[in-house]
Amino acid sequence: MKTPTPRKVIYDTDPGVDDAMALYFALAHPGIDVVGITTTFGNVSVEQAATNALYLTALVNREIPVTRGVKTPWVKTGGVPPDFIHGADGLGNLSSRVPTTNHLDPRSSAQFIVDIAREQPGDITLVAVGPLGNLSLALKLEPELPKLLREVIIMGGTIDEPGNVSPVAEANIWNDPHAADAVFTAPWKLTMVGLDVTHRVVTELALFKKIADHHRHVATDTLHHAVAFYSTFYSGLHKHLALNPGCFAHDLLAFIYLVKPELFQMESGSIRVATDGIAQGQTMMNRRGYIDYPQAGWGQHLPMTEVCMQVDAPGCLALLEETMLSDWLAT
Ligand code: BDR
Ligand code: CA
Repeated sequence: MKTPTPRKVIYDTDPGVDDAMALYFALAHPGIDVVGITTTFGNVSVEQAATNALYLTALVNREIPVTRGVKTPWVKTGGVPPDFIHGADGLGNLSSRVPTTNHLDPRSSAQFIVDIAREQPGDITLVAVGPLGNLSLALKLEPELPKLLREVIIMGGTIDEPGNVSPVAEANIWNDPHAADAVFTAPWKLTMVGLDVTHRVVTELALFKKIADHHRHVATDTLHHAVAFYSTFYSGLHKHLALNPGCFAHDLLAFIYLVKPELFQMESGSIRVATDGIAQGQTMMNRRGYIDYPQAGWGQHLPMTEVCMQVDAPGCLALLEETMLSDWLAT
């Protein structure tokens, strides 16, 4: 059987432990071709995010352009990165790093997204798993971007599941709610992979040990170390994770959706983001179709977002294991 052409992806990310896990899944999966990595502030500063993206790609001998993007949210005041979740270095406080020599692409992340989308119209899928400032800035630079990209898949937001930075908000959206609202109201083919599904898929630390033992490679050792740190945070939050160490693999699910959408059940609706006040960062979905509400902001022509509402968790875990145990690491 003919192998399908891999999907070309720009990965917009704030690595970040689950970002690193998702990156290595993408590099290991034959159906994904990562053509660029654009970084943003979020789990760490944007400088650290770019350093980590360069480091993670160097460890697996992959020369992929890496850019540095936005440092702060568009409107709100930036906060302090959550070093208690991802480590001060974003990779679980590595005790040392092996020397590497790859360098940043000098373009901004937004400019890179625009350049590649213009060069390859209709071919590029944007997978965004951090705050959405790079994408909203790219949209300002090139208003035709929704027509130039094939589709956009974001990890962020939540509809029914409680939030992780407030009772109603998910971290990536809350980190830059104005940028997120601009993304949800632009006319791309947009899919949201949020906490409704990411909180249903627990990746056990034991799996990352198995992957590290199988490959005996600095990249998978690094990932195992990072996931151990991240799992300690989640074990303190959730009883089931204290009994059997593991974590939510949020960002990974955006790539799993890309290659195996049949593992997800979807709902369609227009989404707006609360930009201020106690609900800041909440992703609100209109589930009733157009109604002439007295509240402004829910007009007739809002774009629709496809939202992942349920997931086949064993199916995701089987795909993760099979992909990561495959022969993807150059020696
Ligand atoms: C999201 O926030 C970040 O901490 C993770 O990397 C993920 O993108 C989960 O809410
Ligand atoms: Ca992330």
